[in-house]
Amino acid sequence: MKDFLEMRNIVKRFPGVVANNRVNLTIRAGEIHALLGENGAGKSTLMQILYGFHSMDSGEIRMDGKQIRLDSPKDAIALGIGMVHQEFMLVRPFTVVENTVLGMREGRGPLLDLEQASRKLQELSNRHGLALDPAARVGSLPIGVQQRVEILKLLYRDASLLILDEPTAVLTPQEKDQLFAILRKLKQDGRSVVIVTHKLKEIMECADRVTVMRDGQVVATREVRETSEHELTRLMVGRDVNLRAIKPERKPGAAVLQVKDLRVEDESGREKVCGLSLEVHAGEILGVAGVDGNGQSELAEALLHLRRIEGGQVIVNGADVTSRSVAEHRAGGISYVPADRRRVGSVPEMSVADNAILGQQRKYVRGLFRDLDEARKSAEKLTARFGIRGSGIDQGAGKLSGGNLQKLILGREILRGSAVLVVEQPTRGLDVGAVESVWQELIRARQEGKAILLISAELDELLNLADRIAVMFEGRIMGIVDAVAASVEVIGLMMAGIRPAGAANTGATMKEAPSGETV
Ligand SMILES: Nc1ncnc2c1ncn2[C@@H]1O[C@H](COP(=O)(O)OP(=O)(O)OP(=O)(O)O)[C@@H](O)[C@H]1O
Ligand SMILES: [Mg+2]
Repeated sequence: MKDFLEMRNIVKRFPGVVANNRVNLTIRAGEIHALLGENGAGKSTLMQILYGFHSMDSGEIRMDGKQIRLDSPKDAIALGIGMVHQEFMLVRPFTVVENTVLGMREGRGPLLDLEQASRKLQELSNRHGLALDPAARVGSLPIGVQQRVEILKLLYRDASLLILDEPTAVLTPQEKDQLFAILRKLKQDGRSVVIVTHKLKEIMECADRVTVMRDGQVVATREVRETSEHELTRLMVGRDVNLRAIKPERKPGAAVLQVKDLRVEDESGREKVCGLSLEVHAGEILGVAGVDGNGQSELAEALLHLRRIEGGQVIVNGADVTSRSVAEHRAGGISYVPADRRRVGSVPEMSVADNAILGQQRKYVRGLFRDLDEARKSAEKLTARFGIRGSGIDQGAGKLSGGNLQKLILGREILRGSAVLVVEQPTRGLDVGAVESVWQELIRARQEGKAILLISAELDELLNLADRIAVMFEGRIMGIVDAVAASVEVIGLMMAGIRPAGAANTGATMKEAPSGETV
C-alpha cells in the first residue's frame, strides 16, 4: 500500500502548551489508521490541522507526494479530506439533507439543490448501506444515526480521507458494529480512515495500523497485527494499567436515595420513565445498565430537578424532595455528573478555576468578597488530584481536551461532599489511565459512605464498580442483579428487553432478579 498522506514535523502551540511537537504521521490509501493517546496528548489538534481547522506553526503536509495548503476546512474538503468531530456539528432543527448541503453550493436555486441532494443522498446511503431518511430532522434522530449523517455528509463531498474523532464513544454495541462495517466498506473502496479512539479492543478489531501519541509527540506507529492491547497501553501511559477494580467489602447503610413510582416525560410529552422505583444505600454503588435512550438520562435529570417529575416521589435522607427547587435540592446533598458535559456540566467560556467551584461559589465568600485565594487553592487541588492536564487553572474550560473537561466536572462533583452522587457515563472519552483513576475515585466515594447511582452503557464498568445492577429498558427496570453473581449474557438479554427464564414477570415493579436475589 502506498502512502497517501503525509504529515511531517507538525508543530502547534497554544498559549502555555505545545499540543503537537514535531509530529510525523503517514496515512496509506485504503487503510484504517487508529490514533491513540492519553487525554490531552494532542490527537484532536493534529486532526483539526489536517482538516484545516487549526493552522500549524510549522511543518508540512503532503498528499500523493505533493505539498498541500490547508488554510480552512474548505481547502480540506476540496482536497477530499473530511472530518466528523468529537462533538457533532450538525444543526439540530435542520433535516438530514439540509445538513448535508449546508455550506455547499450546487445547482442554481436553493430548492433545486435540496431535491437533487436528496436523490444523491438516497443513492449514497443505499450504496454504502447507511439507512437514512433525508427528510428526517436531525435533532430527533438517535446519536448513532446522527453520526451516520455526518459520515454521509463526507461521502456526499466524495472525501477520500475520513477522520473520525472518537466515533464510538456514544454508540451502542450494535451501532458500533454497524459503523465498523461501514468503515471496512470505505476501505475496500480505496478510501482512508483515521479513527481516534481510547478503546484498545476497537483498535484491535478494526484498524490496520495504529499511531500512539503522548504529550504532543508520536511515540510509535505499529501494524495492528503485530501489537497487543498490553503493548499499546504501555506505549501510551508508560506503565501497566489495571482495569480490574478492587472493591473492599461493602457495608451498606440506610437507604439514602429512594425513588418511588417515578414518571418522567421527554420534550414531546412521551413517557420516558414509566413508574420506576429503586433505592440506593449509603456506601453502595447501584449501577444502571441499558442501551442509551431507554430513559436513563431522563431519570438522572428528574432526580436533579432538571426535568419535571410527572408522578412519584424522590426521597433523600428520609425527606421528600420531589417538589423542591433545583438550588435547594442541590444544597440538600445531591451531586450530578451529566453525560453531556459541554452543554450541561460546565461553562466553557469560564476558566478552569471558576468551573471547579461552579455551584459552590457561596462557599468561597468572605464578607462582601469572594475568597479568591481559597477558591484558587481548591481548584489547584482538584486539578492535581484528578490529573487534569491543560495549561493551568486560568485556561478557559472550553479549551481543555475532551477527556480533561470530563475529569474536571467529575472531580468537582465528587469533592462536593453530597450524600448522593448521580453519575452518567463517567468514563466516556477517557483514556485507560484516567478510567482507572476515576474508578478508584468512585470506589473511594463509596467507602466514604456516599450513595452512588452509576448510569453507564459500559457493562465492564458496571461489573467492576457496582454492587447491584439495575437494567433499564424502555423506561422500566427489567430486573436488579447482584453484580458478583451477574452474567453478561443475562444483563445483555434484559438490556434488549428480554426477561430471562426463571425471572418473575411482574412488570415495572419486578421483584425477583435472575440471580434469585430479592430486591
Ligand atoms: N483551542 C485551544 N486553545 C488552547 N489550548 C488548546 C486548544 N485546543 C486544545 N488545547 C490544548 O492542547 C492540548 C491537546 O489537546 P487535544 O484536544 O488535541 O487533546 P486530545 O489528545 O484530543 O485529548 P482527548 O483524548 O481528551 O480528546 C491540551 O493540553 C489542550 O488543553
Ligand atoms: Mg480529543
